[in-house]
Amino acid sequence: MTNIAVIVGSTREGSFNRLLGNAAIAALKEAGANVTDVDLATFDLPLYSAAIEANAFPADAQRLKSLFAAQDGLLFVSPEYNGSVPPLLKNAIDWASRPTGEESLIALSAYRGKASAVMSASISPFGGLRGLLHLRQILSTIQTLVIPEQVLVPNAHQAFDAAGNLTEALPASLVQMTANRLVAVAGALAA
Ligand code: FNR
Repeated sequence: MTNIAVIVGSTREGSFNRLLGNAAIAALKEAGANVTDVDLATFDLPLYSAAIEANAFPADAQRLKSLFAAQDGLLFVSPEYNGSVPPLLKNAIDWASRPTGEESLIALSAYRGKASAVMSASISPFGGLRGLLHLRQILSTIQTLVIPEQVLVPNAHQAFDAAGNLTEALPASLVQMTANRLVAVAGALAA
């Protein structure tokens, strides 16, 4: 079975990206994946600092890194902050990119060779597009293969019903299409 982790870049109560992440988790399961929901609120990650790292690699950074390393694919569902990636998510990505033990500086053992995909919900009419462009670049830099399919949910405050489901058919079908593709590519890369 193909292992996919879903990482939501907002821990805000009522987060629209959490709702989109929930839709993505359901779609990935529908596509046959074994899904791990990574709730960043449950990871105690200090802001990356070389001094902290030199003193002792944080236990939760190691836990996150090991969790990523056990996956075939990673799906990031994140808001856009000032046209880019929120610090919560960038910090998590950065910690898990760091070498540990005897690894070389460029080992990228949590990421290298995995497939990744991106989605964003935003209250703006642009759906977080600029943030996803930055996120794609980051995910390529850390040696994941970012699939071309992606999901943008603009006007997110009007996009979900009271039960937290996407009300329009188009974004919902894009979520399933992206999930299907991610599972297929991640499975092929892992084979
Ligand atoms: C935002 N927001 C935002 N939205 C957007 O489309 N483009 C942007 O550049 C920004 N910038 C931005 C910066 C900061 C610091 C905050 C806190 C917010 C608004 C954002 O889309 C909105 O808060 C979403 O609701 C955040 O996602 P969650 O928490 O609902 O998942």
